[in-house]
Amino acid sequence: MTKTPTSRIDRLLSALGYGSRTDVARIARSGGVRLDGNRITDATQRIAVAPDLAGRMTVMGQPLDPVAGLVILLHKPLGMTCSHKDEGAVVHDLLPARWRRRTPVISTIGRLDKDTSGLLLLTDDGGLLHRVISPKSRIAKTYRATLARPLDGTEQARFASGRFMLESDDKPLLPAVLEPLSNTEARLTVTEGRYHQVRRMFAATGNHVVALHRETLGGLSLPDELAPGEWRLLRVDEVALIFQNTPDGP
Ligand code: URA
Repeated sequence: MTKTPTSRIDRLLSALGYGSRTDVARIARSGGVRLDGNRITDATQRIAVAPDLAGRMTVMGQPLDPVAGLVILLHKPLGMTCSHKDEGAVVHDLLPARWRRRTPVISTIGRLDKDTSGLLLLTDDGGLLHRVISPKSRIAKTYRATLARPLDGTEQARFASGRFMLESDDKPLLPAVLEPLSNTEARLTVTEGRYHQVRRMFAATGNHVVALHRETLGGLSLPDELAPGEWRLLRVDEVALIFQNTPDGP
C-alpha cells in the first residue's frame, strides 16, 4: 500500500499559491485555516496530503484549492496563446490568479495555436504531461477544419497514405483520417502533434485553414456545456480516457 505523503501546512499552502510561508503562518494564527471545521493556528503542523483534503480544509472560509495532481479540461477560446511566457492574453488567465503561483507549475499539455479553439488540457503533473505529448503516445486528436477552398477529393487518400510529407520535415506523417463534412469543412484525426500540423497539412494540398477547432483528445470530448473560456477539473477515471485505444492505454 502506498503511504499518503505529509506536508507542513505552511509549505503546502505556499506551494498552492496562497502566499509565502510567513503569509500562511499569519493566516493560520488569525484563524483562517480550518481542517474538518477545527481551527489550525500552528502552520508548521504536518498533515496528510490526500486528494480529499480539498473537501476537508478551508482557507479564509473557502474550500482549499485542489492539491497537486490536477488535470484541467479547458474550452480554449480564440485569441489566447498557451505559454506562460507569451505576451498578450494566455489561457492561464482563465484560471484563478493564485494558480499562477503554484509549485509545481500548471502547464498546457501540448499547445493550440492562438487562432485555434477547443479542447485543451492543463496539468501540474509533469509525468502525465510527458506521457501525453511523447511522440510514442499516438494519442488521437480530432479537429474540425474550415477551409478557404473546396476539398479537391484527393486529401483523404493522401493523408491516409503514411507517405504524406510536410515542407521542411524529414519524415512522412503517420496516417491521418479525413472525414469530409461539406465542400469546405472536414474533420481530421491525427496521432502526432507536429508544429501547426493541421494547417500545414491542408496548406500542402494547396488549401488554407480559416478556422480550426479541436473536438477530442484520446477518449475525451469537449462537453457541449463548456462554453469558450470555461474549464473544469477532470476526475481520475476521465484522465484515464486520454489513453484510451493507445499502446499506453488501459
Ligand atoms: N494543428 C494546427 O495547425 N494548429 C493547432 O492549433 C493544432 C493542430
